[in-house]
Formats: sequence, structure tokens, C-alpha cells
Amino acid sequence: MASNNNIVIAFDLYGTLLSTESIAKELAAHFGDEKAGSIAALWRRFQLEYTWRMNSMGLYKPFSDITKTSLQHALAEHSSTLSDSDISQLMRAYDSLSTFPDVEPALKAISTDPSIDAYVFSNGTDAMVSSSVKQSPSLSPHASIFKGLVTVQEVELFKPHPKVYYHLAGKVGKGRGDMGSIWLVSGNPFDVVGARAVGMQAAWVDRAGGHHGKGGWNDRLGDLASGGPTLVVSGVEDAVEKIKDWTKKNEGSGAGHNKEAAAMGPG
Ligand code: LAC
Repeated sequence: MASNNNIVIAFDLYGTLLSTESIAKELAAHFGDEKAGSIAALWRRFQLEYTWRMNSMGLYKPFSDITKTSLQHALAEHSSTLSDSDISQLMRAYDSLSTFPDVEPALKAISTDPSIDAYVFSNGTDAMVSSSVKQSPSLSPHASIFKGLVTVQEVELFKPHPKVYYHLAGKVGKGRGDMGSIWLVSGNPFDVVGARAVGMQAAWVDRAGGHHGKGGWNDRLGDLASGGPTLVVSGVEDAVEKIKDWTKKNEGSGAGHNKEAAAMGPG
């Protein structure tokens, strides 16, 4: 549980702390670089699309099942197939993903900073997330800094359903009236917009930003909801620093006050 004045930061897992690049590499062994890249991108798109469709249909299946079936869909769209054992091998790759380079310094900083309560917050199942965190060669040495691994398994809904973020709040010891004091750090725009829609603060990790004009906040759904990210950051390390600065600046003036955060815009 968070002590009252601590900064609570929930880190998204896949695509934020952990890079899924090694999965594309694994696919490249079967299909070559170009096709593997295209299959990996479609797989990720279908993986998320399936979660949103399940939410809309009022159905739930574990994220591991969603991940497997969405791979089969992506393969079929490329007129490709893989054996069951190759698919199992790809699923096992989720247990040895690497962190992005900006993650380790952030986790080291958190480990010596008692003012931050860090959590992992993911669509994955308890088993999947715990294996991903505890078996990732670069994440596992830092696993003890997390006060908890929060997943959607108990609520049987996926991000960005509001109940998933309220479930997170419960797990970190906050009520619905305190949503503005909880931070999400995510590289996934749909997750950022979902968190903002329930009044949370969100730092969007824009790793492509600044590289040859790529990156930048392009998602416009926030225009129809509660806005885009509170902060745009270049990586997880930058996120932790900027969240601390933001908190200092907003202390005493109702930190987590939604109007204030919205006025800051996406950066
Ligand atoms: C997660 C998905 C969004 O970890 O990647 O929740």
C-alpha cells in the first residue's frame, strides 16, 4: 500500500518496460526480416484489437490466449503458418524479453528513492506478467523495487476499460476520488488516453520522438475524452524525473487536479 504522500507510478509492461523486439527476431528466423517485421506489427495490432473487441462483447479470455490467437490471425493474413511447437516457442519468448536501455537507470533511481511507490500494471495474466518480470535477464535483477505486479486478471477486462484503472487504484491503496494522484507511464497511446479518461496522470513514452521527425503525439481520441498525456517523455528514466518535477511544482496546489494537468497539454 502506498503511504499517503508517496508518488505512485504504475508502469505498463509490454512496449514500455519490455521491448518485444526479440519476438520479431524469432519470427525473422522463420520468415526473413521484412515479412517478420510485418507479421510482428500486425500481430501486435490484432492482439490489442482482440482485447478491445472482447471488452465490447463482454467476454474475457486470458491475455496469453489472446496473444496466441492473434498471432494465428496475423500469420493467416500473410498466408503463413507455424507449427504448434514454433508457436509455443514464440510464446516462451515473452519470458525472456529485454528492457529498453532507459529502463535500468530509472529502476536504479527508484530503488534509492523512498518517495516513489512503483508498480507494474499490465493486460497480461498473473502468470505471464510474473514470468516476464522475473525471467527477463535485464528486468529480474530489479524486480524487488516493485511494490506489486497488478494485472487485469481479477477484473476480467482489458485496458482501457475504466474498471481496470479503478482496480489499479484499489491495489495501490487509493480510492476513486484519488485517481489524479496516480501516474501511469506507458508507451501505448490508448492506455494513456484510458488513464486520463478516469482522471489519472499519464506520462507517454515517445521513444521515437526527435528521431528524424518521427514520433510525437498523434492520437486524437483524447480530444473526445479527457485529453492527451500529462507529460510526454523520451523514456522511462525521463518519465521518473519529469514526474518528480511535476509533483514538486504542483505540490500544495492540488497535485493531480485534472484541470491543471489538462492545461499543460501533451508537452
Ligand atoms: C500491457 C499491454 C498494453 O502490458 O502491452 O498492458
